[in-house]
Amino acid sequence: MKHFLGSTDLQLHEIKEVFSLAADFKRLRNRHTPPVLDKQTWGLLFFKNSTRTRVSFEIGVRELGGTSLYLDDRTMQVGRGESIKDTANVLSRYMHGLIIRTFEHEIIEEFAKHSSIPVINALTDLLHPCQTFTDIFTLLERWSDPQSDSWMDDLKGKKIAFFGDTACNMANSWVILSKLLGFQLVLSGPEGFETTQEAIQFMKSRNLDTEIHFTTDAKEAADQADMLYTDVWVSMGKEKESEERIELMKPYSVTEELFSLAKPDAYFMHCMPTHPGWEVSETVLENPRAILYDQAENRLHTQKAIMAILAEAKRSIR
Ligand code: CP
Repeated sequence: MKHFLGSTDLQLHEIKEVFSLAADFKRLRNRHTPPVLDKQTWGLLFFKNSTRTRVSFEIGVRELGGTSLYLDDRTMQVGRGESIKDTANVLSRYMHGLIIRTFEHEIIEEFAKHSSIPVINALTDLLHPCQTFTDIFTLLERWSDPQSDSWMDDLKGKKIAFFGDTACNMANSWVILSKLLGFQLVLSGPEGFETTQEAIQFMKSRNLDTEIHFTTDAKEAADQADMLYTDVWVSMGKEKESEERIELMKPYSVTEELFSLAKPDAYFMHCMPTHPGWEVSETVLENPRAILYDQAENRLHTQKAIMAILAEAKRSIR
């Protein structure tokens, strides 16, 4: 069964198909969307809060002709200790696909192991691949053409800089995508927030090179960058560390001063939700080159493409 638990689950030709299909879905929205999920029900099983991921997936399933069903651990028996094996096997008998947001990455891997339907990672503590796929698509709309044959060449010369919590799921997902697609990535955060051994081991297990450009010098990272990215400093599940994290990460806030070190036509991106005044200043958020709402919209188009590709792969193994 083909799942999407991380970017490495798709081969390069499938990644290209995601971007090409996403561009078609975006252009043809409200005119013609092929009902590739006709008569299908896709479940969303969320152990954490969500606005963008939940809404874009639920609407995406419906626009592809299917039905979505939102489930959470507060009302499911899995939240009271029922095994993942039984939950995955049972849901596989009702549904055609399962989109999961949870804590440890092992949880989603366990679901995938016991599911006979495609499983999509809607965020774990380790990875958030739907978001980085969307972010690259959003950049390709500006730097290249997601449907061209040359977009990888257009990406190769670009410098992307990620600031703040450089050990979080978004930073890990950027590292992995930089290895797969070949753009330059610099992580800039405080000491102690280098990429974790868990993420390194994950990369090794997928035969990726594990060399990572990490610097504590935010100015060096921002210098001549084509895009500056940040995420919340206190990810879901890290609330007890709030005070310490905020103090450590203040030098990595994306301010106008930091943004001015990047190329004049650089973009600012953030997966949202934002905390203005913390990881990014109000003025940077108001800058016309801050493209957060385009990122949020594109979640819908890229995730529809990912679902379409997984549904097609499932049909072909029958
Ligand atoms: N970026 C993102 O995943 O947003 P939500 O947490 O609102 O889904």
